[in-house]
Amino acid sequence: MTEQTFDADTAPDAQYPDAVEAIRTRRSGHNFDPDGDVAEETLREIVRDATLAPSAFNLQPWEFVAVRDEERLDDLVDLAYGQEHLRDAGTGVVVVGHTDAERTAERVYNEWAEAGRISEEDAADRIAQAEDDDADREFAVRNASLAAENFLLSAHARGLKATPMTGFDFEGVDEFLGLPDDLIPVVLIALGESGGDEPERLPRRSVDDVLHVDDY
Ligand SMILES: Cc1cc2nc3c(=O)[nH]c(=O)nc-3n(C[C@H](O)[C@H](O)[C@H](O)COP(=O)(O)O)c2cc1C
Repeated sequence: MTEQTFDADTAPDAQYPDAVEAIRTRRSGHNFDPDGDVAEETLREIVRDATLAPSAFNLQPWEFVAVRDEERLDDLVDLAYGQEHLRDAGTGVVVVGHTDAERTAERVYNEWAEAGRISEEDAADRIAQAEDDDADREFAVRNASLAAENFLLSAHARGLKATPMTGFDFEGVDEFLGLPDDLIPVVLIALGESGGDEPERLPRRSVDDVLHVDDY
């Protein structure tokens, strides 16, 4: 199977703000421009950035379902309990996680072996293990959530607004998208052009409050 790969070191879009600036200025917005439009090429670039997120053993157990058709988006807004900013955004991206490593295990472990990072025997063992393992929702949620954060930061760095949402009917969205049994929706991202400023960011807990060293 021939798969496309992406060389992050030679990406043509190096003019965007650096990571720390993007982290510090990213917001979840409700104020989208309802007349705005995100080009499909831009969506593809953001998804490519999302795929550069870390994942367990580089298994990349994620998919992205972009809902852009107006009627489909109306249905998705209903499934998101009427959150209107999703409609204004114009694109809803459901980040989907694999509950089973089996989907990518063969390809990925063979890549580890081909790169000389593990033995062929180890790769075969890991592939067999992935085939035996039961479904694991945590595996899906952990990995797909990291990809989702990359998505948010990339969209923001490109001057777009991207709001993560879990206020939606998970079973309904699962069915609406026609997801296979081993895939689950993890987070829905409203993606669009900004309609203006957002209310000031609410305070964050202090580092002293959240950082524990050596022990809780
Ligand atoms: C797991 C999760 C679920 C969220 N669900 C929603 C949602 O359903 N609708 C929404 O408008 N925002 C949602 N948000 C956005 C949060 O309200 C927002 O991240 C938080 O208020 C902090 O604001 P900031 O992202 O602008 O810093 C969600 C964020 C996360 C991480």
